[in-house]
Amino acid sequence: MSMPRWIKFALAALVAFSLVPLVVAYRYRQVKKPRPRLHLVFDMDAQAKLRSQQESALFADGRAMRPAIEGTVPRERIVGRPELTEGRRPDGSFVESFPVPVDLELLARGRDRFNIYCAPCHGWDGYGQGPVARRADELQEGTWVPPSSLHDKPVRERPVGQIYNTIRNGIRNMPAYGPQIPVHDRWAIVAYVRALQRSQNAPLEDVPEPQRSSLR
Ligand code: HEC
Repeated sequence: MSMPRWIKFALAALVAFSLVPLVVAYRYRQVKKPRPRLHLVFDMDAQAKLRSQQESALFADGRAMRPAIEGTVPRERIVGRPELTEGRRPDGSFVESFPVPVDLELLARGRDRFNIYCAPCHGWDGYGQGPVARRADELQEGTWVPPSSLHDKPVRERPVGQIYNTIRNGIRNMPAYGPQIPVHDRWAIVAYVRALQRSQNAPLEDVPEPQRSSLR
């Protein structure tokens, strides 16, 4: 006994029709359109907001942008001391000595901050093998720029002001940490970086006289 012809026909038509949504969806994904596609769930994509330079009836002066409140201080709060806040002399060159007193307390703070902010990439010892760097090596994505070793000669020879500037503004592929690390902590980290560098490249004269012969 075979199926009546019209049922076969109807089944085939049904199967063909069921493919239509798939084909339409596929086509939508392939073609480019000047306007956004059908947008069923808006999430927070479109919301009422004021843009800069717009007018707004909300404020008495009619401006959407608000002027700075009287007495607003600059983000870094210290003004007129570029040696401290920028690591540069007024002529723009990097300072070679610390603008803050370097003592054990500063170094301890620097180690604490370094281990939080820098070690994930540069490693706890500064050789550039932190967990982020090792993970990136594992993934082998090819776009990763490895963190510099802080013990390379050129980095060791950078003036302290330049290391400070690297923390504050970032350098090449390294992002800026200025927005997260305040001025005093940046200098603490620089001091600790110097201590790390010294620990790996100390001259013999740094070792007390009685112990020197044991090293030679
Ligand atoms: C997200 C990873 C990452 C973190 C976190 C990070 N760095 Fe880097 N750092 C890099 C990379 C990558 C480079 C090399 C950039 C390049 O050559 O493009 C670099 C380079 C440097 C250099 C060498 C710059 C030069 O003069 O050549 C110094 C110094 C340095 N970082 C210090 C720090 C300090 C201090 C911290 C913590 C405040 C820190 N970095 C945090 C990734 C990082």
